[in-house]
Amino acid sequence: MRRDYLAEAEKKYAKLERLYHVGARQAWDGKQVLGDLIKKHGGIRLEPAKKRALAEIFSTILWGELAAWSISADLALQLEDTEAKMAATSQVFDEARHFYVMRDYLLQLDCEIPPLDGYTHTVLTELLDTDRLVDKLLGMQLIVESVAVTLFRSVAKAGVEPVISELMPYFERDEARHVGLGVLYLPKLLATLGPIEAARLKLQQLKIVTLIGWGTHLKKRHFETLGIDNNDGFRRGLRLNREVLMGMRSAEGEDPPGVLVGDPRLDFVNDWAIDLFFPRFGAVVPGWQRAVIGVVDNLSRVGDRALRLAA
Ligand SMILES: [Fe+2]
Ligand SMILES: [Fe+2]
Repeated sequence: MRRDYLAEAEKKYAKLERLYHVGARQAWDGKQVLGDLIKKHGGIRLEPAKKRALAEIFSTILWGELAAWSISADLALQLEDTEAKMAATSQVFDEARHFYVMRDYLLQLDCEIPPLDGYTHTVLTELLDTDRLVDKLLGMQLIVESVAVTLFRSVAKAGVEPVISELMPYFERDEARHVGLGVLYLPKLLATLGPIEAARLKLQQLKIVTLIGWGTHLKKRHFETLGIDNNDGFRRGLRLNREVLMGMRSAEGEDPPGVLVGDPRLDFVNDWAIDLFFPRFGAVVPGWQRAVIGVVDNLSRVGDRALRLAA
């Protein structure tokens, strides 16, 4: 048994080190890629309302990349195993590239960059400020990064604008490696958690997911302007996140302590809530549902203001 455990751990560490080497091989030149895409498509040609909506959504991503950059630098410093340190170091390099490419793209859009909303601000500052490595790994690598991957896919799929559509797969490929660092390394840290810490971490996970839900609600009209269906995005996002978290299950199929993996048998509850709050494009929405959505819209704005004031 013990030998099996050691062999399993060694395999995981080899995979962590491989993330670094793959990262080095797949490193792309952001200046060149963005410059070539802009040349290929003759600039970013989009009506002003859509430009503003893109700026609203991608400014959130811009600050998310900046936070991911700092958090991966924290991880590179604090993780003890050198293989995990290598994977985190490679991530620092990626996130710096994501940050400047997104900044340059937003500058090319040539419209004002809006301030960060209260919900995203709360999630990112908490992840930056905590000294708990498990919170950073679970929150950033496994939740925020998988939300980012879902968003990148939605934007590329909606064909909003060819430069951003062709840029997204470059980001997505890097983000998949960052999720890999969390999946491979987090179980080792989680194994040391006591029951109180495990319960606290589950609450933290719920809090992050709830804040992201409210933040998405706040930006709903910008997604609609761009023709991005949040209903589809949420369904895919929740399933992707569960798949990622399931990757941390033990060989016997046990959930790691401190993580809410979710149960596919309960998908119908999630789907019902998604259909209620984010009806599909073109769906017939009865009056009572429109009223519920209106209340939630107002609440999302009140919450945003309150969180911004508290910041
Ligand atoms: Fe990134
Ligand atoms: Fe990332």
